Amino acid sequence: DVESSIEELLAKMTLFEKIGQMNQVNGRNPTDKLPGQIRSGEIGSMLNIGSPELVNSLQKNAKEESRLGIPLLIARDVIHGFKTMFPIPLGQAASFNPEMVELGARIAAKEASEKGIRWTFAPMMDISRDARWGRIAESFGEDTYLAEIMAVAMVKGFQGKDLSNPSSIAACAKHFVAYGAAEGGRDYNSTYVPERQLRNVYLPPFEKAIREANCATVMTSFNANNGIPASGNEFLLKNVLRKEWGFDGIVVSDWGSIKEMVQMGFCEDDKEAALKGVNGGVDVEMTSGTYLAYIETLIAEGKLQQKTIDDAVRNVLRLKFKLGLFDNPYTDIKAKSSIYSPEHLQAAKQAAEESFVLLKNKNNTLPLSNKIKTVAIIGPMADAPHDQMGTWTFDGEKAMTQTPLQALRKQYGKEVKFIYEQGLAFSRDTLKVNFSKAIDAAKQADVVLLFVGEEAILSGEAHCLAEINLKGAQSELLEALSKTGTPMVTLVMAGRPLTIDKEIKLSDAVLYLWHPGTMGGPAVADILFGKSVPSGKLPVTFPKYVGQIPVYYNHDRVGRPAHKKETLIKDIPLEAKQSSLGASSYYLDAGFDALFDFGYGLSYTTFEYSNLVLSADSLSSSDVLTVTVDLKNTGKYQATEILQLYTADLAGSIARPIKELKDFKRINLKPGETQKVTFKLPMERLAFWNIDNKKIVEPGKFNLMVGGNSNEVVTKEFIVRQ
Ligand code: IFM
Repeated sequence: DVESSIEELLAKMTLFEKIGQMNQVNGRNPTDKLPGQIRSGEIGSMLNIGSPELVNSLQKNAKEESRLGIPLLIARDVIHGFKTMFPIPLGQAASFNPEMVELGARIAAKEASEKGIRWTFAPMMDISRDARWGRIAESFGEDTYLAEIMAVAMVKGFQGKDLSNPSSIAACAKHFVAYGAAEGGRDYNSTYVPERQLRNVYLPPFEKAIREANCATVMTSFNANNGIPASGNEFLLKNVLRKEWGFDGIVVSDWGSIKEMVQMGFCEDDKEAALKGVNGGVDVEMTSGTYLAYIETLIAEGKLQQKTIDDAVRNVLRLKFKLGLFDNPYTDIKAKSSIYSPEHLQAAKQAAEESFVLLKNKNNTLPLSNKIKTVAIIGPMADAPHDQMGTWTFDGEKAMTQTPLQALRKQYGKEVKFIYEQGLAFSRDTLKVNFSKAIDAAKQADVVLLFVGEEAILSGEAHCLAEINLKGAQSELLEALSKTGTPMVTLVMAGRPLTIDKEIKLSDAVLYLWHPGTMGGPAVADILFGKSVPSGKLPVTFPKYVGQIPVYYNHDRVGRPAHKKETLIKDIPLEAKQSSLGASSYYLDAGFDALFDFGYGLSYTTFEYSNLVLSADSLSSSDVLTVTVDLKNTGKYQATEILQLYTADLAGSIARPIKELKDFKRINLKPGETQKVTFKLPMERLAFWNIDNKKIVEPGKFNLMVGGNSNEVVTKEFIVRQ
């Protein structure tokens, strides 16, 4: 079995060979020395190797030409697709469709493994409540439950049923932990999340990914939480991850994050960084080489124990055995490729369709009626094949990407006349020289399709923004077009929520596309012409103003909650005196409402919720509550609704969130159809880390809510008994 094979091999290894397994190097610009280093046992894993031929040749150096024949682990950031790009993870989360997310990851694994990649650094499951943070694009949004479900689905997709299947790749739960809470939304910055909040909000997706989906690896984050860098956090890595959750996979650092502990002032020098990294519980160091440089000395000096090294190496070897790399580390380069197969493209198209969120649809502007003869396509994002793929697109190809402009012309060009005028060359463009052409196009058209947003490079790692409005002269372009009086559909391609209050008001319809991937174009075309119907819901609250951040639906109750009748700055008499009476938690200049609430999203049809019934109004903490609600399609289109079930714990040993998502379902109904939808809610899902730092269901009163978004719900009360 695997464990005895590990022990057998470990017994033969020199200390140098063991350290090699803990050393991961960057393969982007390989030198002539690389094969020799691999033969010597100095390298255990690599990332960013360009070609499968090179992978095979390096595997040969490892498997056939090194003393012990230990294969390499070959890793790459396959985040939302390999060649066939799926929507960015934030967009995938908007689908509330874990099956689709799993399928997307399965397809990515198939395509990547054809090139010798057997380890991806995904999924990222950082809870993100700050749209300034560029990496919100890679997240599943602000909600812990949704992130848990999506993280589990993605891990299952990457890893398949069995890791030893050559088309399975090891997943990586990242970034451990609280990275998304970076101060001010500035990447790499400090976080201050107390243990209880870590456990209630940030840790659950990791725990689920590991315990429910057997996620093979975990990556530590760049941030220090409460002063302790994640790559040196013994408590989290050893006590929580290993002891509490029984994790037996690899903990890998992020790129250079071991060495960065020196820069953070947590370690005096690289040697201490290696010591704190290994003792902290990081098995594999990504790229910064301090393990290779110092572990031997640290052992000789008695500062590091041999057993700590052996345990780390065991974790690495375990994954290599599970992946079947000892039996065959090679990739069959001549095998028939599945890359860009029709099934893969179809799945990417469906994922894109399901990720789109309809934010406004005045007078049923959408779908476009068949009376429409002339359409003006305007804007910098209508034909941006690279940018529509989104951040972390290493392998997706521009030439294989279908843009909205291409797809609209191809799919509907016979019936409709399309006039294309960019207006602005790119999102940050401030040159208004082409506005007049765009305005002319709008005047000739029955409808304007305006594609705005932000390029892929404006979100993702290290790409944070202090303002999250439409960049360049996009807003002015939109305003100018709105003045033509031609109905206008605004389509936003972006890696994050944008503050587009004004632009929403000036548009007749608004469809949020995120960065939709390779098949974004055909998906948009079909949605616009009503061949498919939008169903996505926001996985993150949209602020009206950047200054409202953090704004998220499931915040803790406060003593003075905001209400609809707040005084705004315009209502304050000039001679007003200081007074806090009647004050509550909101901004005088922004009110308290978000632009759009978590879970919000329209359809071409309408849905009605009624007849919420609970199987009991008093339950024990081990019971399962059956909840039924009637959902009626009251409009004219067959469509999918995402029903969301929330609970609110009305009093606890600590202040509790105003509501929390606990379940959701996608239900497809024909016009006029009603369905009784049933949820089974185990009461144990109400458990939280309480005042005593114990995870329990506290007895008391709860509200149960079901609705089509977090703010419009039907409610019933129930009690959990002692
Ligand atoms: O996987 C990534 C991580 O998310 C950010 N830093 C670099 C890693 C490897 O590319």
